[in-house]
Amino acid sequence: MAYGPDQILEGLGNSDYERYVRTPELLALQKSPEEWLHRDELLFAITHQAGELWLKLATSEAYEVANLLAENKIRLALRLVPRILLCIRNANEGMDMLDQMTPWDYQQVRRALGHGSGFDSPGFNSVRKAIPTLGKEFHRLLTEANVELLTIFLEHKKYDELYELAQALLEIDQAMFLWRQRHFKIVERSIGTKVSGTQGTPVEVLSKLNSFNFFPELWDIRTTITNHAIAAEGEN
Ligand code: HEM
Repeated sequence: MAYGPDQILEGLGNSDYERYVRTPELLALQKSPEEWLHRDELLFAITHQAGELWLKLATSEAYEVANLLAENKIRLALRLVPRILLCIRNANEGMDMLDQMTPWDYQQVRRALGHGSGFDSPGFNSVRKAIPTLGKEFHRLLTEANVELLTIFLEHKKYDELYELAQALLEIDQAMFLWRQRHFKIVERSIGTKVSGTQGTPVEVLSKLNSFNFFPELWDIRTTITNHAIAAEGEN
């Protein structure tokens, strides 16, 4: 195959790089300096846009994992879980950039946001919908294997794949928990906690969501295991 300077893809931009990555469209998605109320709008917009993209990929990967589980392909499904975790972590770490904004400068940026609220984040809302589908498939697999949740922990070598899947779901739950914690600190640093957001929701509502778990049974089972060990010791 000959490599030359000519572009062979359709689209905007002078090179195939620009046409494939769609940089003309992508780089036009941020306000221009003349439109800014404050120059930190660029930092704020890019952080959010990048976060939305990572959560879009996390959602796509999560549905693929659910599809593979629906076909009982647990090993193949497990291979994709790190992608979901990396997406959530990237969205999480991306928020570090917002630490660079002073609380007063954020107040100027905030004037540009209208009623924009994170509750309407398509990325977060779609990943929040996708994750429970993994739990549904996990419980179906347990039922079909005719095994209790506790048993896969006690006999983890025998139930290797189901145990690994339980751990993977716990990792995803933890990654989302860490995202919420990190986001909450960003909110606290930027506007404080005893105020309301752009749609009038008190920030305290967010602190309640901080303790949300997608798979409470996978956390509760730890207590059951501890109690099981204590009971077993008592018998000896
Ligand atoms: C200075 C930065 C930020 C501030 C001050 C902030 C503020 C808030 C506030 C006050 C809320 C509560 C709802 C409301 O009234 O709007 C909220 C929710 C939310 N924000 Fe942010 N946010 C920031 C950055 C981000 C980033 C970078 C993302 C990533 C895409 C994000 C996504 C969300 C989501 C998904 C919710 C709903 C959370 C849930 O349902 O648990 N926010 N944010």
